[in-house]
Amino acid sequence: MSSLASPHGTKGAATGAVARAAAITAPGIGLRPTGGPLGAEITDVDLRNIDDATFDAIHQAWLDNLVLLVRGQHLSDEDLIAFSRRFGALDHAPIQENGRRFVDGYPEIYVVSNVIENGVAIGSLGAGEAVWHTDMSYLPDPPKASMLYALEVPPTGGDTSFSNMYLAHDTLPADLRARVAGLMLKHDGTYNSGNFVRQGVTPTDDPRLSVGTPHPVICTHPGTGRRMLYLGRRRNAYLMGLDLAESEALLDALWEHAQRPELVWTHRWRVGDLVLWDNRCTMHRRDPFDPACRRVMHRTQIKGEAPPAI
Ligand code: OGA
Ligand code: MN
Repeated sequence: MSSLASPHGTKGAATGAVARAAAITAPGIGLRPTGGPLGAEITDVDLRNIDDATFDAIHQAWLDNLVLLVRGQHLSDEDLIAFSRRFGALDHAPIQENGRRFVDGYPEIYVVSNVIENGVAIGSLGAGEAVWHTDMSYLPDPPKASMLYALEVPPTGGDTSFSNMYLAHDTLPADLRARVAGLMLKHDGTYNSGNFVRQGVTPTDDPRLSVGTPHPVICTHPGTGRRMLYLGRRRNAYLMGLDLAESEALLDALWEHAQRPELVWTHRWRVGDLVLWDNRCTMHRRDPFDPACRRVMHRTQIKGEAPPAI
């Protein structure tokens, strides 16, 4: 069985400035980097039953690898909440498109699903594409992490991709970096990543007027001290104080850079998969899937320790 010590670097590590899987160990569990620009699988662990040393190793592996996959879990909502709480206090689920907030009795659980029961969607995001985003960055203090647990998955489609925003920052062309340095970016609160209008928001497509929160476009990660590009969502984004046309042009350039395939790793889901991502230094998107198939995922979101800052 492998330990949490991993070989130096991974395939593609030449482009990745992320120190992957520092030499930490916890007896009995394994760490297998994806070989892509981010992500690692933790093996040989039952998340219902971990001691403090194992948790510390998982926590460090999460900071080092940005996204962790743990397969073969059997988690109730209470188990998911209990494991999530080891990382910190939880945020309540955001309000879903259908106005329901959460799983009855569990305000921390956000349901991502296309399933309709008695004419009402049980969750958010439908079966379409979920565009690139990071979770809840339209808030002043967004969650530092999200955890998504697969209860039902379609036979094909619905894969989730993650991108490394440290690497996006570190590979930003110098002229582009100079143009955005010090700027604040408004993260739109109108639309969710399924392009549904959030409950209670009057939609507008003028990025200057839409609700949201400005954050620095380049931030420092409070846990690692590393710089990262912090983009949130493309739709209705606005670089504060610029002409709209200039903001749009700069954002288009930033997003073209941030969506390059060499920054991305894609996860194909199985039932029982738990995926935990660092919501500060990654973005994610989901492929569409056949709406006739069921996909049911339960998510928690862990409160940030500090608002995004330079
Ligand atoms: C999320 C999300 C994508 C997916 O839960 O935050 O964006 O794959 N989910 O369901
Ligand atoms: Mn999301």
